[in-house]
Amino acid sequence: MDAATALALLLEQSMTPPTSPRPTFEHHLQRDWRNAALVDDVRRGLGRHPRRLSPRWLYDSRGSELFDEITRLPEYYPTEAERSILHERAGEIAARSGADTLIELGSGTSDKTRTLLDAFTATGQLQRFVPFDVSEQTLRDAAEELRARYPGLAVHGVVGDFTLHLAHLPTDGRPMVAFLGSTIGNLYVEERRAFLHNLAANLPVGASLLLGVDLVKSLDRLVAAYNDSQGVTARFTLNLLDVLNRELGADFDTASFDHVAFWDPVHERMDLRLRVNDGQVVDIPGADMRLELNDGEEIRVEISTKFRLPRIVDELAEAGFAVQHTWTDAAGDVALLLADVVGRSAVTGSASAAAG
Ligand code: SAH
Ligand code: AVI
Repeated sequence: MDAATALALLLEQSMTPPTSPRPTFEHHLQRDWRNAALVDDVRRGLGRHPRRLSPRWLYDSRGSELFDEITRLPEYYPTEAERSILHERAGEIAARSGADTLIELGSGTSDKTRTLLDAFTATGQLQRFVPFDVSEQTLRDAAEELRARYPGLAVHGVVGDFTLHLAHLPTDGRPMVAFLGSTIGNLYVEERRAFLHNLAANLPVGASLLLGVDLVKSLDRLVAAYNDSQGVTARFTLNLLDVLNRELGADFDTASFDHVAFWDPVHERMDLRLRVNDGQVVDIPGADMRLELNDGEEIRVEISTKFRLPRIVDELAEAGFAVQHTWTDAAGDVALLLADVVGRSAVTGSASAAAG
């Protein structure tokens, strides 16, 4: 090989980006899981009063796209507020956690997470990113994009339900779990308690949790965030009826339902419902069910709890997490909490000592 050819080869090699490993995936939703669990939820949730369904069914491909649109609405403050904290604090979070594995629950597009990934990869400490979501297509698309953006980073996607499959989290090395966007607020209080206990039980002592929570604020801003002027949130909740029509062969007349969002001051949460305008009899063959809805009847499709810091810190302690740092955005709209798994007895012990 002459010198010119050798030089050309060298140049080409130096310009070729390092090969990134293909993302790998594990799947914990059995093939008919979605259907079986949906049938179960529909039978239980629609057969009772008040009628309710789990928000996880909101995230088919269309629902995930609509949520993405919601995050760009002027009224929907949580995404940008959380992003601003991440921009300012990602380096500090990476240093404090010392994690070599970043796990993201309810990861969606992992859009904001890139700020964290930038900081973690800059320190050279991060080896693996594990996005975990029930929405398989969104997860696959996000994993491919991250592969292109972070050559050399191992991306391992988990298709699963974070209320059921936390036993499959990787526990080797030093993990940090990110649970952002206040998705924890979509769990009922008893589900939230079980979730936090399971999470602590499935992580090694010393692992960290970065938890995003939306804080209690003025009523008008909350209602506007969930009842936006462009009607995107309405399309997001109404899409649930299309999911039931498609997946279970139901015949909901979507056009005769309205999206309703109100503040529940007792539970300090937004309550999102679908209200039928006229009485309607709905056949749901996939769930072997006929539903008789009276004029004005409602189906609750989501709650979105808003937090006060002392309460969530206590709930974390009760589950076995010790909060080491809390950040809020400039307006005090949302908070990020960084906590360590210390084990239940350790936290209970120190909490009761402090109380005594
Ligand atoms: N973390 C992102 C996305 C929030 S949207 C953000 O902060 O903007 C909520 C995400 O959680 C969706 O991607 C949805 O598919 C996922 N999700 C909802 N319920 C879930 C469940 N039970 N298990 C796993 N993922 C779930
Ligand atoms: C994903 N989750 C935190 C959103 C929220 O704000 O509770 C879902 C959402 N529902 C309507 N708008 C946004």
